[in-house]
Amino acid sequence: MSFSSSPLTPDQQKIQAAHKALEFIEDGQILGLGTGSTVHHFLTALGQRVQQGLRVRGVPTSQATAVYARQLGIPLLSNEELWDIDVAIDGADQIDPHLNLIKGGGGALLREKIVAKAARQFMVIVDQAKQVARLGLPFPLPVEIVPFGWPTTQRHLENLGWPSPLRQKAGQPFLTDNGNYILDLHIPDIAEPSALESSLKQIPGVVECGLFLMMASLVITGTNDGPMLTRAS
Ligand code: A5P
Repeated sequence: MSFSSSPLTPDQQKIQAAHKALEFIEDGQILGLGTGSTVHHFLTALGQRVQQGLRVRGVPTSQATAVYARQLGIPLLSNEELWDIDVAIDGADQIDPHLNLIKGGGGALLREKIVAKAARQFMVIVDQAKQVARLGLPFPLPVEIVPFGWPTTQRHLENLGWPSPLRQKAGQPFLTDNGNYILDLHIPDIAEPSALESSLKQIPGVVECGLFLMMASLVITGTNDGPMLTRAS
C-alpha cells in the first residue's frame, strides 16, 4: 500500500495493520485467528499466502472466522485438541497506553480470550480510532453471561453502579457462539481495570468480560504515516 497525503480511512488503516502483521508470520506456525473486520483483512491476505505455499494452521475464535478461513483454504485445528499456538492475531475495540484492551464488540470475547491466553504472543491489529487514553465509554464493556437467571446476574452487575443492558439482535437476545448472552456495561471511565475484572468475575453467571489486560505483546496500528508498532514493555 502506498501512503498518500490524503488521510487513510479506518478501513484502509485496518488493511495496513493486517498486512504488516502478516510480515511476522512464519512457515509452520500455529496461529490464533481472531474475529472482526480487521482480522477479516488479515485472513484474506493470509489465505493468499497459504495458496502460494505458506504452511500454517489456525485456531479460529468464532464460527464466522472458521467459515471464512475454510473458504480461503487455511487449515484449522479442532476445538478438542491441546493447542500450541505461536501467535494469536486479533483486533480490538479500544486500547489504552498500557496496551490494555476492550474486546467483544462482535461477541467473540470468550473464545478470543481463551485463544489469546493460549498463545506465546498476542498481536493486536487496529485502526487509530481504537486508541484511547482510558478504557470505557463511548465503548461499553461486553460481559458474557449464562442465560440461566440472567436478570439476576444483570442486577448484580448494575449494583456495581452502571447500566448493563442485554445485547439484542433482531429483537431477541444476542447469542454468542457458546450459547450465552452479553450484557454491555456502560462504564464512562475504567479507572482500575484489574479491580473491575476481578469484581465482574466474582459474580455467579458471569463467564468472561471483554477486558484483556497485560495480554498484548505487540500492537500494530494503521496510520497515515505507515504502520506503528508498539511492543509490551
Ligand atoms: C470481536 O468480538 C471483537 O473482539 C473484535 O475483535 C473487535 O470488536 C474488533 O473488531 P474490528 O476489527 O471489526 O474493529
